[in-house]
Amino acid sequence: MRFDIVTLFPEIFSGFVGESLLRKAIDKRRLEVVTHDLRNWSKDKHQKVDDRPYGGGPGMVIKVEPVVECIEEIRRLHAEPGELILLTPQGERLTQPLVEQLAEFPRLILLCGRYEGFDQRVVDLLQPRELSIGDYVLNGGEVAAMVVIDTVMRLIPGVLGDEQSARSDSFSQENRGLEAAQYTRPRSYRGCDVPEVLLSGDHAEIDAWRQSQSYHKTLSRRADLVGSEGDSPRRPETNEGEKREPVN
Ligand SMILES: C[S@@+](CC[C@H](N)C(=O)[O-])C[C@H]1O[C@@H](n2cnc3c(N)ncnc32)[C@H](O)[C@@H]1O
Repeated sequence: MRFDIVTLFPEIFSGFVGESLLRKAIDKRRLEVVTHDLRNWSKDKHQKVDDRPYGGGPGMVIKVEPVVECIEEIRRLHAEPGELILLTPQGERLTQPLVEQLAEFPRLILLCGRYEGFDQRVVDLLQPRELSIGDYVLNGGEVAAMVVIDTVMRLIPGVLGDEQSARSDSFSQENRGLEAAQYTRPRSYRGCDVPEVLLSGDHAEIDAWRQSQSYHKTLSRRADLVGSEGDSPRRPETNEGEKREPVN
């Protein structure tokens, strides 16, 4: 899968791309991440890409010409034209089901805004998918682009060490609710013990406990996720998780 990022601050991505799972996935050729500096498409001798808003008001607006010309050119860099995503707080909210859809594309082009955002004609002419990572305002689309890459890459085969891990996470296809509590050694710490069932070696009982934990945790923290059939965490056959481990 290939990600193209269009930004005014490509250097922001150097640490992100150079570390950890993403670096490994790039080295294994599962992923490709290419940044493009929008200023390279400026016609201004000072490489300006923004201007004052028509009608007045605070801040600056990113101009239409450099964005349209940049996107047209980078689309041609690869046989696959790619799905264009414009990061904006006004877009559709990113959720795990949407991340799963995005992971099906062979190429995503992520357009990062700054200042007051883009001239509306960027949207009118390029008709991107407009995406928000939440109901708050960031200074720029770069952090949002990292969120998209980070969430999508986990679903690309061969990127995670253990693919079961992504399948059982909170909000995943297997469980649209919240994941059950996890423990590791030591068995006991300052009077807090690991639930006995996890030490039992009985995998059927452990699965039932986790399912119950997940269901009750989701119900108490995110009741909005429980309800519509198919998209809900599964209702457990027993209430073991609730009885053994109070959910906080
Ligand atoms: C300061 S914001 C502009 C906000 C814009 N004036 C508005 O009110 O909708 C600058 C840029 O940050 C990015 N951004 C801010 N919040 C975001 C969010 N919640 N999700 C995705 N991108 C966001 C967008 O690319 C946006 O163009």
